[in-house]
Parts: sequence; structure tokens; C-alpha cells
Amino acid sequence: MAAELLGLALEAGRRAGALLRDGRPDDLTVAKTKSSPIDVVTEMDIAAEKLITGFLAEQRPDDGFLGEEGAASPGTSGIRWVIDPLDGTVNYLYGLPTWAVSIAAERDGEPVVGVVVAPMRNETYRAVLGGGAYVDTADGERRLAVRPAPPMDQALISTGFAYVQTRRAHQADVAQRMIPRLRDIRRGGSAAIDLCDVAAGRLDGYYERGLNPWDLAAGDLIAREAGALTGGRPGERPSGELTVAAPPGVFEPLQGLLEELGAWHD
Ligand code: IPD
Ligand code: CA
Ligand code: CA
Repeated sequence: MAAELLGLALEAGRRAGALLRDGRPDDLTVAKTKSSPIDVVTEMDIAAEKLITGFLAEQRPDDGFLGEEGAASPGTSGIRWVIDPLDGTVNYLYGLPTWAVSIAAERDGEPVVGVVVAPMRNETYRAVLGGGAYVDTADGERRLAVRPAPPMDQALISTGFAYVQTRRAHQADVAQRMIPRLRDIRRGGSAAIDLCDVAAGRLDGYYERGLNPWDLAAGDLIAREAGALTGGRPGERPSGELTVAAPPGVFEPLQGLLEELGAWHD
């Protein structure tokens, strides 16, 4: 079952990634805005979601869907697809390369398959629950593993900022107070890629407040299968309140620091 879901997620992700990479109009503009004037959607976000849900629904008509651009149906099979057709829309709009297609399959609410396709990196990250995490590149597949934990003052930690100004102001304040206690901060612009970069050992950790299920479903599984710990506030699962992902040894102090700085409130 997981192998079938993984195969379908990979195919849907590859097709959407190719559409986004090859079909990006030179004069791409904003089609609409959502939570704020800087929370943008392009025609390509919508086209990619349509392609993914159309393909998956044709293959598995009884499955449910949750997609950022509106797909929402419970299904009857116990499998639900959680889809961000274009994670990193602002990068995509500006022609920056850090964007991805994120597709996860949940069984009875538990993520069992995660795929993140990053076309401008020529990389596809994938994980099956209990089966490890891998990246496919032009050179073949490589198993993903987190980096060994450095001391916190040598940790490179990525984060992101929400689209709502009041929340961003507090997030900036938290980041400002974190910087002197870390090696540095990164803001890549795609939560899915941030989580995969933790999995690939390219970051020592990642945190963000305000994520939606489609931002993190696939990347969270990939990070965990690569050896990362993921969570929210201490004892909580990753959620919109707070998402934290890092190797053991960084996860605990990072979670503690975020608690101390109030990263979980606005
Ligand atoms: C956004 C990106 C960004 C994160 C935002 C997300 P979108 O997703 O993942 O890195 O900071 O919280 O909303 O809007 O590009 O799909
Ligand atoms: Ca997103
Ligand atoms: Ca998106």
C-alpha cells in the first residue's frame, strides 16, 4: 500500500514540478491574495493543484484531499492526500529557485508517505513511515541523515515569517533575540525545503510559527525518517502553533530557547 502511494505521489509531484518549471510565464503576476496583501497566489499555484488532485483522484477515487488552493474532501478509503502545490510562492513569483511541490499521504490521520519535489535543485526528497528518507538526484538516490548536533552557538537554524504583519513583528523580535545565541539564521522561503534541508544535513534546525498542514506534512515525515526530532511546544506535535525540527542534541535546546522567547505566541 505505501509503495503504491509513494509511486503516485512521486508521479504527481514530478508532473506538477515540470508544469511549474516549464510553464512559468515570464510575465507571471499575482492572481489573488489570501490572509494579507503579501499572501499571494498565482495562476500556477492553482494549475499545479488541479493537476495533482486530478491525477490522484483518477488513480484513487475514494481518497480524501486537503490542498492549499481549496481541495477539501474527506474520502472514504482512510487515505487523505495533503498537498501544497507550490511551497515558496513568493520565491517562484520573483524567479528565485527555492520552491517545491509537497505531497503527503495520511492513513487515518497519520502521515505514511511524504514527497517534496524541488525542480530547480533537480532533487526529489521522499520518505515512507518506518522506511527511511531518500533524495533522488541526477546521480541516483542517496539516503538522508541529519548532521551531528553542534553546540547551539554553532548551529545554523532556518525559520520563516507569516504573512500577517502583527505576527511577523513578533517573529522578527524572536529571531533578533536568537541570532546572538546561534551561528546564524536562514530564511529560505519554503517550509517544505527547510524541513528537507534539516533531513539532508544542510541545516542544524528549523522552526516556524503559523504553518498549515500542507506546508509541513511531507517535510515533517522526511525529517523524522532522516533522524530528526520534530515537535511543537514541549510535548506537542508540530502544528500551526509552532513547528520545530532538528537532530537530537539541537532539538531540545532549540525548543527550550523558543519557549523562553515566546515563539509560540503572537
Ligand atoms: C510559505 C512558505 C514560507 C513560510 C510560510 C508559508 P507558500 O508557503 O513555506 O517559507 O515561511 O509560512 O506559508 O505560501 O509559499 O505556500
Ligand atoms: Ca506553503
Ligand atoms: Ca503554497
